[in-house]
Amino acid sequence: MLTLTDIAADPLVLTSRLRLRDGAKAILRPLVHADAERLAGFLEGLTPESRRLSTFDGYDLAAARELCDAIARHDKLRLVLEDESSERIVGLFELSLALTAGDIARYRAAGVHLSERTDCRFGPTLADAYQGGRVGSLVLPLVMEAVRQLGRTRVILWGGVLADNARALRFYEKNWFQLVGPFTGPDGTQSLDMILSLAGARLPSPPDLREH
Ligand SMILES: CC(C)(COP(=O)(O)OP(=O)(O)OC[C@H]1O[C@@H](n2cnc3c(N)ncnc32)[C@H](O)[C@@H]1OP(=O)(O)O)[C@@H](O)C(=O)NCCC(=O)NCCS
Repeated sequence: MLTLTDIAADPLVLTSRLRLRDGAKAILRPLVHADAERLAGFLEGLTPESRRLSTFDGYDLAAARELCDAIARHDKLRLVLEDESSERIVGLFELSLALTAGDIARYRAAGVHLSERTDCRFGPTLADAYQGGRVGSLVLPLVMEAVRQLGRTRVILWGGVLADNARALRFYEKNWFQLVGPFTGPDGTQSLDMILSLAGARLPSPPDLREH
């Protein structure tokens, strides 16, 4: 089983090369300290609509530096999707090995007992130009392989998914996430909790997607 410290010490253990459907080569790999400026470029480029759908603490170099400073220091693993030719970050796939009391209470009310022994949180964000082109579905099995290697078997959506985020809802449904229930966020927004059990998931296995 991998730990966040192992991954920070050797990011290659979770590095995969893949070819996107337009033929472009890409790399999925752990965020590293040297990524701050490139990550800032990714955050700065997100449109207001993407920022509404996927919220970060900030969208500038300071925010990117905070994410880089957090590497292997807390409970988070951040994988970035990098376009190989431009070396730009075009996607950020976040995992948290910690659960919040709010998540645990909401899921329990819906009959699902979460535990940090088995469960983790997941949030995906693609650069605007990469959304809606099935890149998310191509990358997801690789992220779930990382989840398995971290010793977790279920994934919940980090902060849920906004009820009006039709594309993300379709993305999760077609990738075998199950609806747990609706909830109202602190700012009054309507969101949905969803969970994926890797034991029962029928995701394509990662080697099918990797470039050999
Ligand atoms: C969510 C996200 C990671 C999904 O990745 P993706 O590559 O866009 O997803 P895919 O293309 O694999 O799947 C999207 C599906 O939604 C469908 N879709 C696209 N727009 C849609 C819409 N407005 N309404 C309903 N379905 C829609 C697509 O046709 C596709 O389904 P299909 O394969 O059956 O045709 C990506 O869109 C993204 O980063 N969105 C912005 C940030 C965000 O919403 N993050 C999630 C926060 S919970």
